[in-house]
Amino acid sequence: MTADRGDSNVFDRLAKRIRLEGAITIADFMADVLITPKHGYYMSGEPFGAAGDFITAPEVSQMFGELIGIWCADTWYNMGGPTTLNLVELGPGRGTLMSDMLRAAGMVPGFLQTLQVHLIEVSPNLKKKQKEALSGFNVTWHSDLTTLPEGPTLFIANEFFDALPIKQFERSPEGWSERLITLSEDEKELNFTLSPASKAIESLLPESLRTAPEGAVIELSPIASTITDMISHHILEHGGAALFIDYGWDIPTAQPTLQAVKAHKKHPVLQEPGTADISALVDFPTLVTTALNAGVAAHGPITQGDFLRSLGIEQRAEMLRKTGTDEQIVDITSAEHRLTDANEMGTLFKVLALTHPDYQTPAAFP
Ligand SMILES: C[S@@+](CC[C@H](N)C(=O)[O-])C[C@H]1O[C@@H](n2cnc3c(N)ncnc32)[C@H](O)[C@@H]1O
Repeated sequence: MTADRGDSNVFDRLAKRIRLEGAITIADFMADVLITPKHGYYMSGEPFGAAGDFITAPEVSQMFGELIGIWCADTWYNMGGPTTLNLVELGPGRGTLMSDMLRAAGMVPGFLQTLQVHLIEVSPNLKKKQKEALSGFNVTWHSDLTTLPEGPTLFIANEFFDALPIKQFERSPEGWSERLITLSEDEKELNFTLSPASKAIESLLPESLRTAPEGAVIELSPIASTITDMISHHILEHGGAALFIDYGWDIPTAQPTLQAVKAHKKHPVLQEPGTADISALVDFPTLVTTALNAGVAAHGPITQGDFLRSLGIEQRAEMLRKTGTDEQIVDITSAEHRLTDANEMGTLFKVLALTHPDYQTPAAFP
């Protein structure tokens, strides 16, 4: 596959890197394009909303964040109601989810006062938006998990894991090869290419997929596993839980899902790098295995539709409609549909909870 040369800063930087290092992995490409200081996709510009490239669930409706806030309060109660609790959000975007969660948390007696809010964000531009959305709250920012404080902690991540770098492996006639990105001969475009087949790669692949047929493509995100492992160990050591919401697989699957989205439409991944969002479906089975290996309990993944219905989205929508204008009533109904319907975000999006093994099953999970 070939692609046109795009945003000159990002393309030139990638071309230089490939000339110096040789073909780069898709993970290197994603990290470079999404979070390189100054030019990374998330580091400048405004990717969210109708005028941006995509809309996430918290931006669809306040109901999403409110119900997650209630889930947090219920989990806090199951933890025995510790007097201080870190509430950590990974990749908080515009801060909308946290703001809606905190508003709902304020309705539960004693809960809001226990919370210390921590946000993990790499983008200075989005940090500014988060500061605006959360003015009035005491918030601490981190660029990764290594600086988080000790103590019982709830971790929330919505559409964070899908933005983490992945690697792709393809089954060729000679065996498994890694898909890499290189320059075309005239050095004007980026192309996909395959590394020489390697036996060593096999050990990285899920056992059930090692014998996948020729042409099969498997995606792995080592960084997603590392983050899940770090969160799991934090929960084991200090108490707490995690909620990961994302579009993804609930069974191991051999199918490429890497995609770019620009102005709400699919866009060729290698074209105009830096100007489109790049993501891949989250591999939930690997996150579950990582968490179980660390020793925490894993619940789900269940579908976002089931999760939100169990937490009472229908009743919440009905309540909001009662006091809404005609226009608001239509918006609330359409948001409820968008978040929960099987043809919208209801089934493709999944929810996974991790908890300390001593706690009971969290709300909404079977
Ligand atoms: C797709 S957005 C989701 C935003 C928000 N959670 C929402 O639902 O609207 C991904 C978020 O993760 C952040 N992000 C991406 N890669 C990251 C990384 N490696 N470390 C920390 N944050 C990252 C982005 O800056 C952005 O805030």
